[in-house]
Amino acid sequence: MRTVLITGASDGIGAAAAARLAGDHRLILVGRNPEKTRAVAERVGADGVFVADFAQLDQVRGLAAEITGRYDRIDVLANNAGGLFSGPTITVDGVELTFQVNHLAAFLLTDLLRPLFTPDTAVVNTSSVAARLFSSFRVDDLDTSRRYRPERAYGNAKLANILFTKGLHARGIRSVAFHPGNVATSFASDTTSPLRWLYTTVLNRSLITPEAGGSTLEFFIRSDAWQSGEYYGSDHRPGRTARKAADPALVEALWSGSERLLRR
Ligand SMILES: NC(=O)c1ccc[n+]([C@@H]2O[C@H](COP(=O)([O-])OP(=O)(O)OC[C@H]3O[C@@H](n4cnc5c(N)ncnc54)[C@H](OP(=O)(O)O)[C@@H]3O)[C@@H](O)[C@H]2O)c1
Repeated sequence: MRTVLITGASDGIGAAAAARLAGDHRLILVGRNPEKTRAVAERVGADGVFVADFAQLDQVRGLAAEITGRYDRIDVLANNAGGLFSGPTITVDGVELTFQVNHLAAFLLTDLLRPLFTPDTAVVNTSSVAARLFSSFRVDDLDTSRRYRPERAYGNAKLANILFTKGLHARGIRSVAFHPGNVATSFASDTTSPLRWLYTTVLNRSLITPEAGGSTLEFFIRSDAWQSGEYYGSDHRPGRTARKAADPALVEALWSGSERLLRR
């Protein structure tokens, strides 16, 4: 039985994917809200349930220590926690919240869990079409704290998910990024971005269900019919994204910039 860790598993796409994988996978579920996370874990019969707020990197470090203390392997790490927030909000770690929750925490968690990886371990990153629609990525403003707009910060963070995927691939770790579709979840409930209207009003009837979004995450966790280092759309086919995602120099700049932010 493969061991699968899903972050952002207390709600939406992550919780729906967990329900679909339960039964033939050993599930380690990570959320932020303890009650919600425990309820999902109980419902799906998860093997492990952990909570951490990615707005505090020490909680990510503590999470990794707990997991490495209890497990000896991870076959799939699904970095799925994320959202669209208001801001700019600078965390206790001195980093803009959107970048930290959507990318930097996952970058740190992946690094700290590497002792549990096998040569076949896959890292699945939930990115977004927002990387193409809203990003305007600059190395000198990695966390978009200076030129902040909610959707730009989100688009840049989701582009970071794709650049990180390529950085992992370049380092010999199987990794993929994907867009789950436009899904009716609460991921935009905490933002002043105009995009929240799409998610919180009757307009959300145009969105797909969390189960449909979760089935795309399930596909990338379950299958190996994808090419490492690539970005896919919700139709499971290679997706179109920002041109900058194909720039190897930017892949390395994000990697070293993320390391620098973690050393502060
Ligand atoms: N919905 C869409 O249309 C859409 C489209 C493209 C990409 N995505 C991406 O899909 C992923 C899942 O989002 P969703 O749509 O399923 O939204 P959701 O239902 O709001 O779920 C978000 C998950 O992320 C967790 N999370 C949020 N802030 C966190 C923090 N500070 N620390 C730790 N965990 C945190 C939440 O934990 P709690 O519930 O415990 O607080 C929840 O489990 C995100 O990466 C999002 O960017 C969504």
